[in-house]
Amino acid sequence: MTTVLAAPSLLSCDFAKLGEEVRACEAAGADWLHLDVMDGHFVPNLSFGVPVVEAIGRVATKPLDVHLMIQQPTRYAEAFAKAGATVLSFHLETIGTTDDAATVEAAIEDIRNLGLQVGLAISPDTPAEALVPYLERIDLALVMTVHPGFGGQALLPHCLEKVRALRREANGRGLDGLRIEVDGGINATTVGDAIAAGADVIVAGSYVFRASDYAVPIGKIRSAAANTVKTARRS
Ligand code: DX5
Ligand code: ZN
Repeated sequence: MTTVLAAPSLLSCDFAKLGEEVRACEAAGADWLHLDVMDGHFVPNLSFGVPVVEAIGRVATKPLDVHLMIQQPTRYAEAFAKAGATVLSFHLETIGTTDDAATVEAAIEDIRNLGLQVGLAISPDTPAEALVPYLERIDLALVMTVHPGFGGQALLPHCLEKVRALRREANGRGLDGLRIEVDGGINATTVGDAIAAGADVIVAGSYVFRASDYAVPIGKIRSAAANTVKTARRS
């Protein structure tokens, strides 16, 4: 497993002062900025699109981790690349399943050819096995730990089993650089279990933005990572 990264989800920030929020996250130690794009079709909520990602990119110095919760993700991939995305994740459920491997692989290639890192996301009801055929082709496996669409929900524990299974699979194939991202319901209570399961990108929305000092939750993510490494070394 590589270094654990903290990725605040701006979905829970104060959009009336977006630039300040980006700067505050970075000053508090954010490694990536997680940006949730929702279309009201794939998920029952709307958030923001290309112009807002582009505006964040003008202020940010850290990588933009763009999480597309939209139908037809490849249709918009180039626009997000131009807007400054570093990692672009799309949901396997929007393309198909392992039955549509060629379509999924083409979508991965389309994103890669734009010079982006590629993330493939799965919702809570999608089994880890559905992601397995693509592990060699992607940079990031995004395991949703809540149903996508809203911040502030409780983590679904069965999703951490999927993280464990994917980390085992990645290790078995020598994919040491594959990042596994957890997204949803991460807080001081759940972060340790997520890291112990094998996640190394930790998204946190409400946990970060409800704090008066963002350095506190981000610091907790870091110390959970450090403690998990110590525990693993002891065992
Ligand atoms: C939900 C989004 C998440 C959301 C997480 O669909 O993908 O990134 O912001 O929010 P919390 O951390 O509050 O569960
Ligand atoms: Zn997200």
